[in-house]
Amino acid sequence: MLAMMKEAVLVSVLCVLSLSVAQGCPLPTIAEIEAALLPLLFFSDDSQEYSPNVAEGSVQYVCLAQGSMIDTYNGVSLIATFTPNPEHPKTIRIFDMECNSGTWSGRTGSLDPPPASVVGAPARTNCYRCREGFGGDTRCRECNSACNSGLMRCTGSNSTDCCLSFAANGQCVSTTNCTSSSGPNYVATEINNFTCTCNLTCSAGYTVNSDCTGCDFTSICDKDTPCMNGGQCIQYSPPDNYTCNCTGTGYEEELNCTDLILSPSPSPSLVLSSPPAPLPSPLFGASSPPSPSPSPICTVRYCDSCQNSSCCKTCSSGSYLNPDGCTCGKVEKAAQI
Ligand SMILES: *[C@@H]1O[C@H](CO)[C@@H](O)[C@H](O)[C@H]1NC(C)=O
Ligand SMILES: *[C@@H]1O[C@H](CO)[C@@H](O)[C@H](O)[C@H]1NC(C)=O
Ligand SMILES: *[C@@H]1O[C@H](CO)[C@@H](O)[C@H](O)[C@H]1NC(C)=O
Ligand SMILES: *[C@@H]1O[C@H](CO)[C@@H](O)[C@H](O)[C@H]1NC(C)=O
Ligand SMILES: *[C@@H]1O[C@H](CO)[C@@H](O)[C@H](O)[C@H]1NC(C)=O
Ligand SMILES: *[C@@H]1O[C@H](CO)[C@@H](O)[C@H](O)[C@H]1NC(C)=O
Ligand SMILES: *[C@@H]1O[C@H](CO)[C@@H](O)[C@H](O)[C@H]1NC(C)=O
Ligand SMILES: *[C@@H]1O[C@H](CO)[C@@H](O)[C@H](O)[C@H]1NC(C)=O
Repeated sequence: MLAMMKEAVLVSVLCVLSLSVAQGCPLPTIAEIEAALLPLLFFSDDSQEYSPNVAEGSVQYVCLAQGSMIDTYNGVSLIATFTPNPEHPKTIRIFDMECNSGTWSGRTGSLDPPPASVVGAPARTNCYRCREGFGGDTRCRECNSACNSGLMRCTGSNSTDCCLSFAANGQCVSTTNCTSSSGPNYVATEINNFTCTCNLTCSAGYTVNSDCTGCDFTSICDKDTPCMNGGQCIQYSPPDNYTCNCTGTGYEEELNCTDLILSPSPSPSLVLSSPPAPLPSPLFGASSPPSPSPSPICTVRYCDSCQNSSCCKTCSSGSYLNPDGCTCGKVEKAAQI
């Protein structure tokens, strides 16, 4: 009769928590720990019915046997403080839980007073199985020495199944670095919790491509579309060496095609290939402050006063007299050339 009850409890425990995760289980919840305790208590004392209550915050992991996914475990051993039944005194026990098909269950017979050597000790993670006796260093079955680097974990049922890093999808990687699983330029170190992370850096103007194999050129022409008024953007070199081809727009090259061309005078820029017609004066007045021009026939750009229609004497502020002695250049232009 009692044996049947035990079975019934075991079956219901297994059924309630039947998720289908083959990779191991996330750390158990308090409810899962309590459920795992039930059959362990039954087996330790047939005469009682139990309703264990684990004290929140009392759980100390003694062994964490890695599952094949990040933050999942095939087995844990733990110390917990609990009351077997509400009227019972608090009890401290160490026991062992196993993950099978995504479900935690207690390992029969593993309910003991915790040895002093493991109370307060950091959890061991270099185990492929927990509880080979709980004391000292026998609280787990150790990974093969080949696994004892990097993550220092192993997974699966064999000490030689090494898990040294986690791929981007969280899967255990059994090579000494994650280059082979995730691709070149991926690294897994303690800094990033042994998760394979793209560790490629690109210089300004470039961004890491989607598979972390190289740097993609980010054109300022695509990013900022600097050329206005229908001007064509031409990128020379990253990050921001570009020019605007303002041909046919009626605007100057050097200000992103925002500065109106005032005359068809000689210019070193691309706009020469198609000299625009002289613009009507209302537009001239609206676009930029008219330069004081003593000679009405002077058409030289950026000119304050002219010798004759095509030869400037003094250029306006922000401009300089070109070596030809007749035309003016903008200061920004001078800095670029
Ligand atoms: C563990 O793997 C090794 C090497 O593959 C093998 O020789 C050994 O029998 C395995 N042990 C178990 C318990 O499966
Ligand atoms: C990582 O592994 C690859 C392939 O096994 C190897 O070519 C590379 O040298 C390794 N890199 C480091 C930093 O260990
Ligand atoms: C690494 O894991 C620890 C413990 O889970 C966590 O506190 C920390 O934030 C993680 N670091 C990174 C970079 O993910
Ligand atoms: C990425 O590479 C840099 C330079 O090699 C290194 O300093 C850094 O620690 C690496 N990051 C990780 C997570 O390994
Ligand atoms: C921009 O690129 C052009 C053409 O390659 C080059 O002549 C010029 O020196 C570059 N300018 C800068 C500031 O890098
Ligand atoms: C500038 O644009 C004009 C008109 O679209 C075109 O004919 C010319 O070839 C372009 N010049 C350059 C250097 O791209
Ligand atoms: C041209 O456009 C670029 C990008 O938007 C901007 O950084 C720059 O200041 C502009 N130049 C002028 C002279 O307006
Ligand atoms: C304008 O003046 C310059 C300098 O004095 C002279 O070289 C040029 O021939 C003159 N042009 C005209 C059209 O008078």
